[in-house]
Amino acid sequence: MSAVVKLANVHKSFGPVKVLDGVSFEVGRGEVVAMIGQSGSGKSTALRCINALETIEEGAIEVCGHRIHDDTLDKRALRQDVGIVFQSYNLFPHLTALQNVMLAPTCVKKIGRKEAEALGRDCLARVGLAEKAGHYPEQLSGGQQQRVAIARSLAMRPKVMLFDEVTSALDPQLTGEVLKVMEDLARDGMTMILVTHEMGFARRVANTVIYMRQGRIWESLPGSELANPQTAELRDFVGSGL
Ligand SMILES: Nc1ncnc2c1ncn2[C@@H]1O[C@H](COP(=O)(O)OP(=O)(O)O)[C@@H](O)[C@H]1O
Ligand SMILES: [Mg+2]
Repeated sequence: MSAVVKLANVHKSFGPVKVLDGVSFEVGRGEVVAMIGQSGSGKSTALRCINALETIEEGAIEVCGHRIHDDTLDKRALRQDVGIVFQSYNLFPHLTALQNVMLAPTCVKKIGRKEAEALGRDCLARVGLAEKAGHYPEQLSGGQQQRVAIARSLAMRPKVMLFDEVTSALDPQLTGEVLKVMEDLARDGMTMILVTHEMGFARRVANTVIYMRQGRIWESLPGSELANPQTAELRDFVGSGL
């Protein structure tokens, strides 16, 4: 069976700085991959390359059958298959939670209002916010806003979800409610790649943990093995985090 996401020997530099130095990994359908590592190790860049927000100099990336490195890549089709959620939620402040979630399905996919509203309410329910549909972002906590951002992404019915440190700006309690949403998605079979500092979460939810260091995959191991790294560097990094 072919992988949903496949990176093969990916190289990426910003000017003289090598940021991805021969990165290869695959994500199967329904799999959860957690990327961990020090700041600057290339995690965000890897996610951005997968969604074609960055170009690569060498190697190949295939996502849901889209060949990212091809000149003929249809970015619009790619981005309908791939949802990405960042640390900053960037909701439209003048739109309600429901309107934020409905926006892309109506504007990009041109689906009708009624259908979009039903879809939007369904997606809000999936992140536990059915009753907040009419609230504006400023009336919601950071954790709730981030869950709306996840619902907004789900409304495009992606085949893969990318999460880049989506809980890093949240306090521990709000972090917990967002992690729970991601855990539910994983249990429902969503294919996910997530960058996180939450070691316990990675250990519990990730099929595979990838430890990035200096633009390389320094160590890759099953999430369940995260307490027993093979390399001294990952041992140091995990340290007291578990
Ligand atoms: N747009 C950019 N222009 C120049 N350098 C960048 C850019 N984006 C990231 N970098 C550099 O690439 C390296 C890896 O960054 P990043 O992928 O964001 O790491 P991480 O997410 O692991 O913290 C860092 O040294 C960062 O400064
Ligand atoms: Mg980053």
